[in-house]
Amino acid sequence: MFSQKRIVLGVSGGIAVYKAVELLRLLTKAGADVQVVMTRSAQEFVTPLTFQTLSGNPVHTELFNLYQEKEIGHISLADGADLFIVAPATANILGKVACGIADDLLSTTLMATKAPVLFAPAMNVNMYENPVVQHNLTQLRELGYHFVGPVTGELACGWQGTGKLSSPEEIFSMAQALFAPKDLAGERLLITAGPTREELDPVRYISNYSSGKMGYALARAAQQRGAEVYLISGPTALPVPPGVRRKSVVSALEMRDAVLAAMDYSSVVIKSAAVADYRPRQMATHKLKKTSDDMRVELEKNPDILAELGQVKQGRILVGFAAETRDLLAHAAEKLARKNLDLIVANDVTQQGAGFNVDTNIVKLLHADGTVETLPQLSKDEVAHQILDRVVRLLGQRPGQS
Ligand code: PMT
Repeated sequence: MFSQKRIVLGVSGGIAVYKAVELLRLLTKAGADVQVVMTRSAQEFVTPLTFQTLSGNPVHTELFNLYQEKEIGHISLADGADLFIVAPATANILGKVACGIADDLLSTTLMATKAPVLFAPAMNVNMYENPVVQHNLTQLRELGYHFVGPVTGELACGWQGTGKLSSPEEIFSMAQALFAPKDLAGERLLITAGPTREELDPVRYISNYSSGKMGYALARAAQQRGAEVYLISGPTALPVPPGVRRKSVVSALEMRDAVLAAMDYSSVVIKSAAVADYRPRQMATHKLKKTSDDMRVELEKNPDILAELGQVKQGRILVGFAAETRDLLAHAAEKLARKNLDLIVANDVTQQGAGFNVDTNIVKLLHADGTVETLPQLSKDEVAHQILDRVVRLLGQRPGQS
């Protein structure tokens, strides 16, 4: 999504400047060409050399610097941008833009750009709550500037309150959202993610290695593409993607109840959760003691949630996953047919860079008409967008759609 994209990252002065370094890393890793513009006060916190090394481009600091203007002038910086991010955005730079002041390189470039601008404000809570700052923010929003954060928490000045810079991941995700097509607007997506835990006693459970990364990437991508997203998640350490509604569940039975309760409201269901197929027949009320050398646990079958959905599918698009360790295509094709799916995403979880608890996946997409597509190793975000591209196509093929 970011390859071929030129992003100008404006960095204004504040203790949160160090987080802009991490944001730059995320952007360049995703393939963006990033030009960094730093204000004089930003350079007091982190040197331009850090940004230069990570971006691979010279850092722009001076409006009247003959060398920098010759290499790439502020007007071509502004013109060439596909997106302008200001992180951290201080009260000062926000005030300048709101009032049309252009008196240094960053404010001048911002004034000259026609690219979408994303501000990530960061400042002391009292500054943030100041009516002048609030007025500027309202005005900028009305003018079409985009914002992410600030968030509430402990601030660098020791105060608690709103004014903290959003995490680099949140800013990155918002930038992604600005580039994403809004082709899922008006659709309600129900997505499941993560593992389920089947309790044995109050301190032990049966589960699997799912981290939730694949499902959360799907939820994030669908939200970015305009969908209303309801994420039903097993236990994970992942934060809720911005704009997504999450319901946390623990066991397969809880996941089933949550899915069935929400499915009437969804036009698309994507089940990437790794649901335990069996649960202990009995859950001990107290911790099991090691009284003998061996122990048998009796398991009973969990309901197959996806297969149940397949039976009452109606006009809904149903996407499943298949996590396999052998005979990938045969097993996935069998699940696709048996569960009455439109699409199944098959991953061989023995492959390095695929499956559980990694940031990438290697998948094959099996369609109901028998077509099979093989995707290369991609980040889970990219895999999510590839799946959603197919979902958009399937939605377009529904009866009554032209
Ligand atoms: O979470 P990550 O760490 O990012 O890892 C991603 C992943 C490996 C979990 C994901 O890519 C994946 O493959 N998810 C499906 C895992 C799985 O349970 O596969 P399965 O082949 O056992 O199940 C097939 C399908 O039926 C799945 O869509 C599953 O959600 C669904 N199912 C399975 C059992 C059950 N009782 N109810 C179900 O709905």
